[in-house]
Amino acid sequence: MTHPERFALAGVMGHPVLHSRSPRIHNHWFAKYGIAGTYVPLAIEPSGLEVALRALPGLGFAGCNLTIPHKEAALSILDEIDPLARRIGAVNCVIVRPDGSLLGRNYDAFGFLESIRERVPAMNFASAPALVLGAGGAARAIIAGLADQGCPQVIVVNRTLARAQALAGEFGGPVVARPWEEREALLPGTRLLVNTTSQGMHGQPALEIDLGGLPADAVVSDIVYVPLETPLLAQARQRGLIGVDGLGMLLHQARPAFRDWFGPMPEVTPELRQEIEATL
Ligand code: ATR
Repeated sequence: MTHPERFALAGVMGHPVLHSRSPRIHNHWFAKYGIAGTYVPLAIEPSGLEVALRALPGLGFAGCNLTIPHKEAALSILDEIDPLARRIGAVNCVIVRPDGSLLGRNYDAFGFLESIRERVPAMNFASAPALVLGAGGAARAIIAGLADQGCPQVIVVNRTLARAQALAGEFGGPVVARPWEEREALLPGTRLLVNTTSQGMHGQPALEIDLGGLPADAVVSDIVYVPLETPLLAQARQRGLIGVDGLGMLLHQARPAFRDWFGPMPEVTPELRQEIEATL
């Protein structure tokens, strides 16, 4: 929470970290909400993570975000991990509590769900069978979020089937694994298609998939945001389907972190989106 005598401080620990858009997002909100403070990139090597995290209370930081390669390593350093972050197996937000102890949370699932709701306000995840491409860290957060929304079926397909199977075995419930080769055959039963792989990212080949089998009311989401319109989203648009780009997830995951640290729950406005889009 902000304090009248204290300059508000937060940051993002990563390695590399200078590419992170988080400083721009949070500094936009400091200005908008009239809070004197700053949010800085913190280049921390893996060997220095524990010392850096333990320094946060003494330096007066409200907390920090974590990005590659620290999200998993923080689980064994922080004093408490909230149940969702534990289930996802990664922390993306650290909160310094009044007694100086450190709490780990994960707002990537929230960011994903809100990014879809922003584009499709009537979205009812409980009646939308989902197909998730990829089984890495981002997929784990999205799958946890979808399962918590009561999604009736979350099929995970991954190039390495064993990884999808391990994930399905761990999450259980509506989460099942199928081979990568079945991705197109699974489209007719899908209402929400999510790409969590790196395919389609700038410098990478396009994801190999023909969206012809998707129902006309399906939503296609790509968590890649460089470029904003991936070949997958271009294909969805050509078919007249709703496409949701990956920038929304990045913007929305930042909101509850800012709230936890400084009080106000900030909004993702067109001005903020434009400011960040200009940096892509
Ligand atoms: P993140 O934590 O960002 O999700 P990750 O753990 O490296 O990143 O996961 C990347 C995902 O992209 C994985 O599902 C990976 O598939 P594998 O588990 O088989 O490695 C997927 N991926 C990467 N390159 C791919 C390719 N050429 N074709 C299909 N999937 C690919």
